[in-house]
Amino acid sequence: MYLACVGGTPVGYMRIGPASQGACGIIVDEGTASITGAYALPDVRRRGVATALLQGCLAWAAARGYVRCAVDWESANREANRFWRRHFVPVCYALMRVVDDALATPTA
Ligand SMILES: CC(C)(COP(=O)(O)OP(=O)(O)OC[C@H]1O[C@@H](n2cnc3c(N)ncnc32)[C@H](O)[C@@H]1OP(=O)(O)O)[C@@H](O)C(=O)NCCC(=O)NCCS
Repeated sequence: MYLACVGGTPVGYMRIGPASQGACGIIVDEGTASITGAYALPDVRRRGVATALLQGCLAWAAARGYVRCAVDWESANREANRFWRRHFVPVCYALMRVVDDALATPTA
């Protein structure tokens, strides 16, 4: 995991490791590294923190022989969608239906 700090205070992180089913179910070979977490505090966003963390993660992966990197995100997360699409090419779209509990609960 890479940590971004300002004056010794953590302001963001990004985590990378071996291929994760949770990152992309169709790219899980041993040549793939997966990013499984990313966050920057709101008051440091849009200043390149996540971009710098991503560079660190990709350098980590390249140094260990990984040839691909996978990450998943929700398209409804506008900041994440914009960030990841700037650096990655989508290869898989997944849809999930969430049924409202109120509709699933029988009424008397
Ligand atoms: C997604 C997230 C990690 C991005 O972090 P960030 O540090 O703001 O990302 P960056 O600053 O590197 O890049 C974001 C934008 O800032 C721009 N930027 C980069 N360096 C910059 C600089 N020096 N000055 C101004 N803008 C800059 C980038 O070009 C990018 O622009 P865009 O929005 O037009 O595409 C952050 O929004 C976040 O933590 N969101 C909440 C948690 C989350 O959704 N995590 C991802 C889950 S999948």
